Amino acid sequence: MPISPSLSLAFNVLLVASLIAATFGIGNFNQDFDLTWGDDRAKILNDGQLLTLTLDKVSGSGFRSKNEYLFGKIDMQLKLVSGNSAGTVTAYYLSSEGQTHDEIDFEFLGNVSGQPYTLHTNVYSLGKGDREQQFRLWFDPTADFHTYSVLWNPQRIIFYVDGTPIREFKNLESIGVPYPKSQAMRIYSSLWEAEDWATQGGRIKTDWSNAPFTASYRNFNADACVWINGQSSCHGSATAFAWMDQRLDATSQKRLQWVQKNYMIYNYCTDFQRFPRGFPKECTATKF
Ligand SMILES: *[C@@H]1O[C@H](CO)[C@@H](O)[C@H](O)[C@H]1NC(C)=O
Repeated sequence: MPISPSLSLAFNVLLVASLIAATFGIGNFNQDFDLTWGDDRAKILNDGQLLTLTLDKVSGSGFRSKNEYLFGKIDMQLKLVSGNSAGTVTAYYLSSEGQTHDEIDFEFLGNVSGQPYTLHTNVYSLGKGDREQQFRLWFDPTADFHTYSVLWNPQRIIFYVDGTPIREFKNLESIGVPYPKSQAMRIYSSLWEAEDWATQGGRIKTDWSNAPFTASYRNFNADACVWINGQSSCHGSATAFAWMDQRLDATSQKRLQWVQKNYMIYNYCTDFQRFPRGFPKECTATKF
């Protein structure tokens, strides 16, 4: 069931004039985020323009947004741990709280030098995930910053890498698939060690002689609805707000298909062994 703009008004959406968009354009880590884990392993630098997380043998580190958001187009540039990053995981995700939480995940699994990262994605609605898709990237994510974006509106969630859509999760409530649309989410990121998961079943050990491992963040931008006192307040100019109805046009559809054909290395929707009694409903309803 497509949700019309008039219904989003029912969500108490308050459009604030474009004046605010000016301040919204360039994010500032001091203003927008709290360092939540790892003591001084997490740092905000350059007057709030750069954030770094590090991981050593003692601990990883992390941060989260001060704001909670209910829908938005959220961009962040990340530069991942370089060199031998096997066993490290850089998680960048949106999540609400509680047992029936919603979540939209990017997770970057490091690898030994010269071998590719895995980009792991997942979507949770009402506490249930199990919707993994994994990708290779078409560039070296450790050589420079790249933009990872989440578009989240009442109809769809789209994951983007440098503006290229890599995954779409549609609102299929009409066929009984829960969709994240009523729980506000914060943005979280952490750099941690997950030897067993991230290194081919634990076969390759994290090489601590390369520690501390560092991931960097810059150019955060949220054209989003901020959840304040039980109300959603949507800042941004009319153009910045276009994400609320955004969908993939024909060109974007082609690019999504290109990524899924050439760079997708795992898709829960084609994993017969895992779902012997039939795939989740969203798998047969949408074209992947
Ligand atoms: C590391 O690289 C190997 C060889 O290319 C690949 O098979 C493996 O999936 C990669 N591991 C991760 C965690 O990306």
